[in-house]
Amino acid sequence: MGLTSDDPVLHMRIWGRSFPNPIGMAAGFDKDAEVYDSLLQAGFGFVEVGSITPEPQPGNPKPRLFRLPQDSALINRMGFNSRGFARARQRLESRRQLRRGIVGVNIGKNRNGEAEADYMRGIRELAAYADYLVINVSSPNTPGLRALQSAVALRSLIAAVQRARGEAVTADPLPPLLLKLAPDLTAEDRRDIAGVAAGSGIDGLIVGNTTISRPPSLHGPHRSESGGLSGAPLFSLSTEVLRDIYRLTEGRIPLIGVGGISSGADAYAKIRAGASLVQLYTALVYQGPGLLRRMKAELAQLLRRDGFAGLAEAVGADHRPGMER
Ligand SMILES: Cc1cc2nc3c(=O)[nH]c(=O)nc-3n(C[C@H](O)[C@H](O)[C@H](O)COP(=O)(O)O)c2cc1C
Repeated sequence: MGLTSDDPVLHMRIWGRSFPNPIGMAAGFDKDAEVYDSLLQAGFGFVEVGSITPEPQPGNPKPRLFRLPQDSALINRMGFNSRGFARARQRLESRRQLRRGIVGVNIGKNRNGEAEADYMRGIRELAAYADYLVINVSSPNTPGLRALQSAVALRSLIAAVQRARGEAVTADPLPPLLLKLAPDLTAEDRRDIAGVAAGSGIDGLIVGNTTISRPPSLHGPHRSESGGLSGAPLFSLSTEVLRDIYRLTEGRIPLIGVGGISSGADAYAKIRAGASLVQLYTALVYQGPGLLRRMKAELAQLLRRDGFAGLAEAVGADHRPGMER
C-alpha cells in the first residue's frame, strides 16, 4: 500500500520521523540501495539498505547462502558483497530532494579495512542521504568485526562516528545513529554494552543480526554450514536478548527488534519485549510480499484486542507491572 495508507494504530513517531507502520526491511536484502522504493511501495514501513562497504568487494565465494526450508531458516556467509559507497551514493542521490519513505543506511567495513576509519568514512559519505545510520558491528562473516562489541572498542568507535556525523551533516535533527548487535552476546557483554550505550548518546540499538549458534532443533541438511542463521529458529534467542537489553537500558534507548519474525504475533511479541520498530528478512524469502498485509492486519488487531490506542503504548509492555502476559 502507499506510504500513508496504513492503519493509524500502527503509526510510530520516533527520532523526529513518522513511520507509517513499524515493519522494516532488514539489512542485507537491498545491499546496494537499488530497490528501496519498490520495498516501500510493497508496504514496508521503512527500509534499511546495506551493509555497504567503502570500496567495492565481492564477498565470499559461492555457495554462500543456504536454504533450510524445513526450519523456515537461512544460513548465509555472504561476507559483505558490496558495490561500495560511491555507487550507493549515486543510487541514493535522488533522495536528497524527494524524501519519500524512510530509508536507513547500514555501514560495513571492507574485509581488509580499518574499522573506525571505514565507519567514519561511511558516515561522511552517506549521512546526507540517510534517515538513520547503522554501524554494523555484528556480522559473523567479516573476521574481527564482532570484537568491536567489547566495551572499550565500542566506546571509542561511538565517539568517532558521532564526531564524523557532526562534521558531515548540519541537518536538524541529525540522522540518528544506531548500532546493530549480535544475538550471541553473553550476559556480561550485554551489561557492558548497555552501560556504554547509555552514556554515549547513541540513538538506538538493533537487536540483532544472525546467530552463529545452531539450535538442536534444526532439520535442514545445510544446518552445519558456517555463517549466520536467520529465520524462525532465531526468534526466541533474539527476543530474549532484546528483552534483556530493554531492561538493562531501562527503556531509554529505542530498540529495533529483528530475528525470526514471520507474523503479526511475532512482531507484537518483540514490541512488548521492548522494540519500538521491527525488521525482517528471512520470512519474506519464504512467504513473499503478501506477508506484509497479513502481518499489519494481525498486529493492528492484537493492539486493539489488548486495549492499546497506539503502538507506542505497547512498547515494552511486558516489563510493566500488571501488564505481563
Ligand atoms: C542473505 C542475508 C544477508 C544479510 N546481510 C546483512 C548485512 O549486510 N548487514 C546486516 O546488518 N545484516 C544482514 N543480514 C541480517 C538481517 O538483517 C537480519 O538481522 C537477520 O537475517 C535476522 O532477521 P530474519 O530472521 O528476519 O531474517 C543478512 C541476512 C541475510 C539472510
